Amino acid sequence: MSERFDLLLRGGHVVTPWGVEAADVGVREGRIVTLGNLRHAEAAETVDCGGLHVLPGLIDPHVHLRDPGDPAVESIETGTKAAVLGGLTAVFDMPNTAKSVVSRDILDEKRAFLQGRAWCDVGLYVGASKKNIADLAELERQPNVCAIKVFAGSSTGDLLVEDDASLEAVMRSGHRRICYHSEDEYRLQERKPMFTVGMPHRNHMVWRDVETALLGTKRLMAIARKTGRPAHILHVSTAEELAYLRDFRDVCTVEVLLNHLTQTDEAYDRLGGYAVMNPPIRDQRHLDAAWAAVNDGTVDCIGSDHAPHSREAKERPWPNTAAGLTGVQTLVPLMLDHVTSGRLSISRLVDLMCAGPARVYGALNKGRLAAGYDADFTLVDLKRQRMIRNDWLATPAGWTPFDGTVCTGWPVGTIVRGQVVMRDDEVLGTPVGKPVAFADTLRA
Ligand code: DOR
Repeated sequence: MSERFDLLLRGGHVVTPWGVEAADVGVREGRIVTLGNLRHAEAAETVDCGGLHVLPGLIDPHVHLRDPGDPAVESIETGTKAAVLGGLTAVFDMPNTAKSVVSRDILDEKRAFLQGRAWCDVGLYVGASKKNIADLAELERQPNVCAIKVFAGSSTGDLLVEDDASLEAVMRSGHRRICYHSEDEYRLQERKPMFTVGMPHRNHMVWRDVETALLGTKRLMAIARKTGRPAHILHVSTAEELAYLRDFRDVCTVEVLLNHLTQTDEAYDRLGGYAVMNPPIRDQRHLDAAWAAVNDGTVDCIGSDHAPHSREAKERPWPNTAAGLTGVQTLVPLMLDHVTSGRLSISRLVDLMCAGPARVYGALNKGRLAAGYDADFTLVDLKRQRMIRNDWLATPAGWTPFDGTVCTGWPVGTIVRGQVVMRDDEVLGTPVGKPVAFADTLRA
């Protein structure tokens, strides 16, 4: 008798942890059952993957979905719809929402709120503040928490833990890897008076300069070594930090953003406020260093730092311009374009966007196309050429700094735990997203 599956992916180039293979994939009850030649198998639903790459579901570990907040800019529903249209099966959502996620009550509320609204799976960050340091050990063990997030330099929202004594207290509360926004707050404040309203946007990278980022990272690494507490430095943006962090692999993992691999300072002249983000877009030297760090293995994860703001907020004169760029829907197309232009292999992309987040955050059942794991897949056509356009975005803010960019390589299908939620640009079914489970937490 032939084997029967709920879902069968036929004839794709399957990207496994051990290489790219021509294989079929059989799925039952939302899990991968087997890979190989399943020519004689039957299935309730079959997807023809001829000519496509079948990737384990790609994960964006760094998004700001703004819910609760301003639904005219973004919500859980629109942000996760954008994610699946862009080929992502899970996102990890940052805590600096209108009501910051800093307590168990707010976390529980947010977890419940995802139900029936999320199109992809969602991991939840908890924010550290000077008021909740004593609670962090308990908070990081709550179900579905991907990590504690510390803003050691100020950005959007009011979360901030900037001094060494408080940072050390944070690192001594709990055990899991902590994620940091690393810019030295004292240097940021000291340099602010050098600038006045209405100055050109490129001053953003002059104010938030290389030294601001490097100093922040050196201070964090000193305390991480002293306390032995694992760290993950988010959006590392300078050549100097990347070189420095190579000596801290015992305590530190590294994220680089798509923007810092794709954009340079010419963007300020072309896009004005639509190039402003923290840490800033910098010059070619830093972009080259980011690619060298991708290719020598320094980088563990790639994120979008999707941070939508209204056009009004982006068009305020600098430095009052809101910092942050949309990116959750454009991350995969742009990374695939980097693959087809030869900057990284498809296997390294999967390492950065699947195995990386699973390893750094301890995501369970995700990040690996292998029997027993969640049946999350991103179907990719590496030959498809398409232009990114503002009107493609599901995010109500409705703009991307990459409007007009042509990508070779495009996500054509998104499958979340065996459910096809996107095929050829069409969102299908209902919002099936669930909170992601992590190691070292209590289970929901
Ligand atoms: O540019 C940024 N925007 N960087 C951050 O760290 C926060 C984000 C936001 O939430 O707007």
